[in-house]
Amino acid sequence: MATPSSRLFDLLGMRVPIVQAPMAGVSSPAMAAAVSESGGLGSLGVGAMNAGKAREAIAQVRAASAGPLNVNVFVHQPVRADAAKEAAWLERLRPAFERYGAKAPGALHEIYKSFLDDDDMLAMLAEEKPKAVSFHFGLPHPKQLEVLRKAGIVLLATATNVEEAKAIQQAGLDGIVAQGYEAGGHRGMFDPDVEDSRLGTFALMRLLVRTVDLPVIAAGGIMDGTGIAAALKLGASAAQLGTAFVATDESLADKGYRERLFSDAAHHTVMTRAISGRPARSLASAFTQLGATVADDIIPAYPNAYDAGKSLNAAAKAAGETGYGAHWAGQGAPLARAMPASALMQLLKDELDRATR
Ligand SMILES: Cc1cc2nc3c(=O)[nH]c(=O)nc-3n(C[C@H](O)[C@H](O)[C@H](O)COP(=O)(O)O)c2cc1C
Repeated sequence: MATPSSRLFDLLGMRVPIVQAPMAGVSSPAMAAAVSESGGLGSLGVGAMNAGKAREAIAQVRAASAGPLNVNVFVHQPVRADAAKEAAWLERLRPAFERYGAKAPGALHEIYKSFLDDDDMLAMLAEEKPKAVSFHFGLPHPKQLEVLRKAGIVLLATATNVEEAKAIQQAGLDGIVAQGYEAGGHRGMFDPDVEDSRLGTFALMRLLVRTVDLPVIAAGGIMDGTGIAAALKLGASAAQLGTAFVATDESLADKGYRERLFSDAAHHTVMTRAISGRPARSLASAFTQLGATVADDIIPAYPNAYDAGKSLNAAAKAAGETGYGAHWAGQGAPLARAMPASALMQLLKDELDRATR
């Protein structure tokens, strides 16, 4: 078994260089436990949960595995609400709501609290002490980092370019998740309104390994053991796989999402802001088609736009239309395999062994 001699790998207590990506709404305690039991790093995406729900999810993982656990939070800048923009967006979505016999909501709300403002989440994490905490969309306040560091937690954050990676190093974190443009789900970019460098995993990995002195975890488009071997060859300490786990038995993806993943839509993933207000890679759908017809600057900020997207999905789903779900997936989506997470881990390990022999 190829095991990179990385300090991060040792710090995290991993036996195989595989991180199951935290996926808010899709990853589950059973998935994280299965991955940790298999020697990888299981993750919980708690960006959409409050501290109480996140604590319960951590307890569920612990009941099933004593392996290492990563808990992931969203660190987006709190919303500057723009009532006129939100009303105009709801008006733009009105025909879609009406098509499904529903009314658009009267106003939008900040449905996810940023970790920057979440003292309860911070206190809960410091108490529960998961092996790792990872940050998406930016970095927490230095004081928050200090609390988590004092609790002995390994700290990771997503970077999509060199500038973000340098900020993560400067803040004294332990590792970087290098997220390429191929990746499924939300781009981890700190500021969604600056021009996106759109670096692919391959180029981003080499840039970060050459310019930043921290262990790097490669994420984006990695679907099998050969892909993991390639990431390690590029200098990664481990590979973080999201889309590969969406079709596992333990995933919370619903029937419509799974069917779309195994359809032609998987060959046409799309980066869109229309679903949530932040750029995210999705399977091609009615929602990504709608997104292609609007300019990014008319879409309200994340997560308020996501409030509209979730309402529209609920209305469409009730009428039997699955094309408005947040069906995130990376460019490797057609390579997804449906099976239990532990079987996928075994397969990935076998493929990695063969690829590095
Ligand atoms: C369904 C889904 C949900 C995701 N949710 C999160 C999340 O909550 N937090 C996070 O840091 N990354 C999230 N991501 C991004 C992953 O961490 C990772 O960057 C991505 O899955 C890697 O690309 P891949 O999907 O091609 O493997 C999500 C990805 C997917 C596919």
